[in-house]
Amino acid sequence: MDSNINKNILILDFGSQYTQLIARCVREIGVYCEIISCNASDETIKSFNPAGIILSGGPETVTTINTPRAPECVFQLGCPILGICYGMQSMAKQLGGNVIADAHSEFGHADLDVVENNLLLNQTTYHVWMSHGDQVATLPDGFICIGKTHNSPIAAMANLQKKFYGVQFHPEVTHTKAGREILTNFLFSICECKPNWTSDNVVEKIITGLKQKYQGVDQKSKVLLGLSGGVDSLVAAVLLQKVFQNNLVCIYVDHGLQRLQEADYLLNNLSKKLQLNIIAVDAKQKFLSALKNISDPELKRKKIGELFIDVFINEAHKISNVKFLAQGTIYSDVIESSHQGHHSKVIKSHHNVGGLPEKLALPLIEPLRECFKDEVRRIGIHLGLQHEEVYRHPFPGPGLAVRILGEVTEAALETLRKADYIFMQELYKENYYHRVSQAFCVYLPVNSVGVTGDARLYAPIIALRAVESVDFMTAKASDLPHAFLQHVARRITNEVKNISRVVYDVTSKPPATIEWE
Ligand code: XMP
Repeated sequence: MDSNINKNILILDFGSQYTQLIARCVREIGVYCEIISCNASDETIKSFNPAGIILSGGPETVTTINTPRAPECVFQLGCPILGICYGMQSMAKQLGGNVIADAHSEFGHADLDVVENNLLLNQTTYHVWMSHGDQVATLPDGFICIGKTHNSPIAAMANLQKKFYGVQFHPEVTHTKAGREILTNFLFSICECKPNWTSDNVVEKIITGLKQKYQGVDQKSKVLLGLSGGVDSLVAAVLLQKVFQNNLVCIYVDHGLQRLQEADYLLNNLSKKLQLNIIAVDAKQKFLSALKNISDPELKRKKIGELFIDVFINEAHKISNVKFLAQGTIYSDVIESSHQGHHSKVIKSHHNVGGLPEKLALPLIEPLRECFKDEVRRIGIHLGLQHEEVYRHPFPGPGLAVRILGEVTEAALETLRKADYIFMQELYKENYYHRVSQAFCVYLPVNSVGVTGDARLYAPIIALRAVESVDFMTAKASDLPHAFLQHVARRITNEVKNISRVVYDVTSKPPATIEWE
């Protein structure tokens, strides 16, 4: 984006599972921030011109060599620094203090006593969340201890003059009471940031930024956007329409792997209400034929991904004067793809529109690239979308194909859609939909014996899956009440033909994944 957005806080990532949480907290407090790797070059860091730097936690130990350290330039920029856990230890070590591997690792709650007046910790005590094995044993020159816990004599430190702070605990997690206030103190009292990251500002800044950037382009240039029915591409469409009006052309590839009434809702309700310019491509039969006799999950994903790109490109070529490709990429996609080299094994090859930009060779417009999912949702609401339109559960790119184990057939799709519709209806009705992070049905093509009336039934099974998760990297099965699950099972076996049994998946991720394939 974005000369328009003040680049306020830079978060250097040492690999903590909480790094994105730090960024979300900072943004929720109203300050724009970005995450970059702790290996970033000096130029990258300097060009950001940060008002403050946060050093994240991380899984390594600074007590051995060859583990990550903050680039030395961060200590010379003259801006305030907050080191969290590993970030504090790295700062201590790099500035001449000593860190030891502690015999008493500290995990969970601890009471912190504040021992010196300072701008970061302005209460006398805090109830904090610890998760560390090492601790700072000797302070670097110029630092004082500002907080201690039973197990950590130096649980917080500061160089008040340079405005360098370090905390051993995690202010970003909700278990640290008043953690948000601590971050707020850092942002406003120490870094003197302005609260400029609100939905109004963000929308205005994105739109003004796009208008400035593209004001010179030919009035007839078209911008192409793949609409999936998901929140990100929908919000991107509404935003881009404000800039490109009718030159925004949305392509919706109907692969027939959507939930009941999804395509209809998008094409007949939403697009009319929003007056989006949508081309719908009916590719249902193509996808069904391509999936015939294929039961391997990875092969299914691959086929769907490839065919999607073919169909999309074929349609794109029919439109004249297309000059740009837009995508609903969001900040977590950007961070995840920049970390992809760290994952050693591919568990599932995710299909979205990966590969399209290269094949179409068009410049990309990604208006939501800097935004987290919750920000995208708030932007959607700000732009007039309904709560239920933006607060929907995630739905995978390959759709119901990965919720039908084995071969995808029309009959299995039809059965799954009906069962899934009932589950969704009941979740909404009983107010559970928004209490779970993701819920769906899975079609199991194994027959089990049932009895309907006096007749014997030998038919497939439906599994219900409902999980709670913050980032979808880990998840736990929701504790939906038995009576509710029994009611859903009763409805599915009564109303959906040829289902003998309904089961509930109680497995966490890991070891299971959220989707079954
Ligand atoms: P898993 O099954 O890997 O899913 O635990 C984690 C989250 O990712 C979603 N998912 C996908 N999303 N394209 C997507 O856009 C895909 O190919 C895909 N596969 C899984 C899944 O629904 C869950 O939210």
